[in-house]
Amino acid sequence: MTIIINKASDIKASEITPRSVYIHRRQFMRQAFASSLILATDAMLPVWAKRWPDLQQSTYKTDDTITSLKDITSYNNFYELGTGKKDPANNASIFNPKPWSIAVEGECNKSGIFNLEDFIKPFALQEYIYRLRCVEGWSMVIPWVGFSLANMLKKFEPNSNARYVEFTTLLDKSRLPGQARRVLNWPYVEGLRIDEAMNPLPIMAVGLYGDVLPNQNGAPIRLVVPWKYGFKSIKSIVKIRFTETQPKTTWNELAPDEYGFYSNVNPDVDHPRWSQRTERRIGEPFWKPKRQTEIFNGYAEQVAHLYTGMDLVKNF
Ligand code: MTE
Repeated sequence: MTIIINKASDIKASEITPRSVYIHRRQFMRQAFASSLILATDAMLPVWAKRWPDLQQSTYKTDDTITSLKDITSYNNFYELGTGKKDPANNASIFNPKPWSIAVEGECNKSGIFNLEDFIKPFALQEYIYRLRCVEGWSMVIPWVGFSLANMLKKFEPNSNARYVEFTTLLDKSRLPGQARRVLNWPYVEGLRIDEAMNPLPIMAVGLYGDVLPNQNGAPIRLVVPWKYGFKSIKSIVKIRFTETQPKTTWNELAPDEYGFYSNVNPDVDHPRWSQRTERRIGEPFWKPKRQTEIFNGYAEQVAHLYTGMDLVKNF
């Protein structure tokens, strides 16, 4: 199979909307709010200015127009809060993501159970602007707040048996009432090969648009793997386990012919029930033509080498 590697230079000029629009709006809003400080209350502040006003931009960004906060937080897949696209936002207040702890287990020297604050403390948070391509055929561009997954995993000193990393979502019907219905085999589990996890792209996200992660987006901490279909980006993580064997992941176990373990975004490999050639960017008008989906969601330069010699049709 031929892999067409799209470089940044291949992006059509018409698809490039200057990031300066977004940056400029932030600067403008900051100045505007600084000058009206006496009147400003916390509730009046724009959402991104509340938590980390001096957040550094990581080197990972895109010139694509960033999806609106409203769309990012009201069109979600989080089956633990309902299977409709609006359910997670409507049911978000039922889910209390505090207190929160994360267990690190398996093939590593420094396993343990950590409360969220201690878990996050060693890492400098940065903004990462990534495209998210859902297996269903839609996409968004999301300004995440997070830190490198690789840096985080290294802290736990995986040993030489650690060939994969498995992530697990909270299992608790009282906080995630969607788990009362057996639409999926709970808890939600995802996994990566260790070299994928150690690539600089994946992050642990704790926020978006400069504020903490909304419940419907996987509060308080989730994975983001931008070159894979969105279902690999598991939400509300309570357990990270280094394993020798490939983790049994939720969607792959449910329908192995439809959802592979790798799930790299690939326009040349159709889902058995629909094509993956194009995608609808959420927020764009319906009459606008769909976008061509790019191999590895446009991140081929950074990740194609991970799959050298692999048949990506077989290992979809
Ligand atoms: N994680 C959990 N625990 N439960 C889910 O249902 N849905 C996945 C992924 N992570 C899901 C999950 C899917 S299919 C997608 S496309 C993304 O979350 C959506 O993330 P977003 O709602 O923040 O855009």
